[in-house]
Amino acid sequence: MKSYLPAAAACVLLISLSFAFLFSAPKRLSSFDHQVKELLSRMTLDEKIGQMIQPEQEHVLKNAGDMQKYFIGSVLSGGNSDPAEGNSLQAWTDLYDRVQSEAMKTRLAIPVLYGIDAVHGHSNVLGAVIFPHNIALGCTRDPDLVEKIGRITAEEVRATGIQWTFGPCVAVPQDIRWGRSYEGFSEDPSLVRKLGEAAVRGMQGRSLNDPLSIVACAKHYVGDGGTTASTSARPGPVPAREGARLWLDQGDTKIDEAALRRIHLPGYISAIKAGVGTIMPSYSSWNGVKCSASKRLLTDILKEELGFEGFVISDYSAIGQIMPGDYKASVEISINAGMDMAMEPTDYRKFFDTLKELVTEGKVPVSRIDDAVTRILRVKFAVGLMDKNRSQLADRKLHATFGSAEHRAVAREAVRKSMVLLKNERRTLPISRQVARIHVAGKSADNIGNQCGGWTIQWQGQSGNVTPGGTTILEAIKAAVSPKTQVSYSLDGIGAEDASLGIVVVGEKPYAEGVGDRADLTLDKEDIMAISNVKRAGIPVVVILIAGRPMIIGEALPQADAFMVGFLPGTEGQGVADVLFGDYKPTGKLSFSWPKSMDQLPLNINSPKNLYDPLFRLGHGLTY
Ligand code: BGC
Ligand code: BGC
Repeated sequence: MKSYLPAAAACVLLISLSFAFLFSAPKRLSSFDHQVKELLSRMTLDEKIGQMIQPEQEHVLKNAGDMQKYFIGSVLSGGNSDPAEGNSLQAWTDLYDRVQSEAMKTRLAIPVLYGIDAVHGHSNVLGAVIFPHNIALGCTRDPDLVEKIGRITAEEVRATGIQWTFGPCVAVPQDIRWGRSYEGFSEDPSLVRKLGEAAVRGMQGRSLNDPLSIVACAKHYVGDGGTTASTSARPGPVPAREGARLWLDQGDTKIDEAALRRIHLPGYISAIKAGVGTIMPSYSSWNGVKCSASKRLLTDILKEELGFEGFVISDYSAIGQIMPGDYKASVEISINAGMDMAMEPTDYRKFFDTLKELVTEGKVPVSRIDDAVTRILRVKFAVGLMDKNRSQLADRKLHATFGSAEHRAVAREAVRKSMVLLKNERRTLPISRQVARIHVAGKSADNIGNQCGGWTIQWQGQSGNVTPGGTTILEAIKAAVSPKTQVSYSLDGIGAEDASLGIVVVGEKPYAEGVGDRADLTLDKEDIMAISNVKRAGIPVVVILIAGRPMIIGEALPQADAFMVGFLPGTEGQGVADVLFGDYKPTGKLSFSWPKSMDQLPLNINSPKNLYDPLFRLGHGLTY
């Protein structure tokens, strides 16, 4: 009898393991094909094309009847697309309900998928918890935390009814002069692979059918972080920053296929493994061919080789960029390459007419349309939109936890885990909360907008008091010290004399795509000045850099007794104080290599070994 026991135990283990597997593996999107096929068979060509279009809310709503006339299948809010009634939780939820009600008036009443850039929390909506940007999450190296953040983001997005985010960004930025570097978890593909997968798991949950899950979108496929810096005039609609001496955004990634696969593809492989519902092709090109136009990338590799069963959504007005001046050719190339849904914020009517014409002329086969619509409907079935027993209007009960203390506590945890300590002499940190006086200075000490960076409330972000409910670093310091400790503050660092210690918070002001490309990442004069002014007071100086990427700190570092970086930590400044006062010993490790000077760029772990001579290596980070 005894001898059977180990075998029985092994059996039980095996069974429970396979159960665990069954429950952890997401349901395949093609498992809905039976229902999809039945619906597809009842659809007209117009209805099918409508499913493939995504206008921006304000443009389609201003044309009464267009939602029905064009059978619109999806709507987005881009970075500057607030409800007409203003930016509030109520107004966003009302907007979603209005759009959904319009869609339900069509013949087949197929609900819309509503997409938004909830890229660090529900980051367009006033009062949402704003989490650190991905570059900071990369410093935590903590997939469980990233998953938890994805869950909370999903819940806050669902509170407004919306069920689709254009994230996670699984870019692998190779050149920090790119203004979207902060949207990537790391320059290291293996870290992006791990954290991208965790983000998808968090957002989509165990099942997309869970009313607290949202559809994720891995972007920007593929090689968006590998473009070559250019100094020529920039083509396309987003101009380079005024006076900019170089641009990388929407550029050309000039590498062979082996390097593309090694550096830029892993994030998509893991996102697909996690069941990601959608993928957004990049504005950028691969060896001169726009990703949005590449059959090799969209169909051969993504759908056939990697087995992606969800749908591909174009970037904002990206299709028209394929053949400037020839929209019809652009649509033909893109749809035939494998684009399934067109993000056409304003030109949705033109897209509808053009695609219909192309199908009628036989230039886009009906089979391609059916494939695109099948993929879109799979996602709609998976996320519960086709469930007749479920209301497709927003669940306003979720307003109760929107921006809640519980959600903010997780963001605070992310902040403290993402802070990276670069220098700490004479045990300057941690600071005793009993010191007589702390002088705080610098342009980002009391500035939620600078803490949050781009893609916050507005597309490019904004300095200042941009959203309610958060805590600036200055406020967090004041809340952390003993009642006897005095906290003084000046923007420029003047008046630090006789303080026990100075804390200077400097760095970058918010920016997003295009605008954030920089030829020069040295600290601003006002930042250097603030640090020097505090240093001149003859007290120990702690410098905190709040930025979207490593900067050139040669002048500042020697003046700092301690130096810490927070890569766009978001609204919860207490996470910074947790580290400053030693409630949390720093564990953050750099997710990017830190250059000594601009002429070293691009510099990353894929640089030739003999040229890899950073100020701080990828993975650097001290503790107490
Ligand atoms: C960006 C995407 C974003 C989209 C919608 C584009 O300009 O490249 O990352 O998801 O706009 O706002
Ligand atoms: C929109 C963004 C979009 C960008 C693309 C902006 O006006 O608000 O969402 O990514 O245009 O160029």
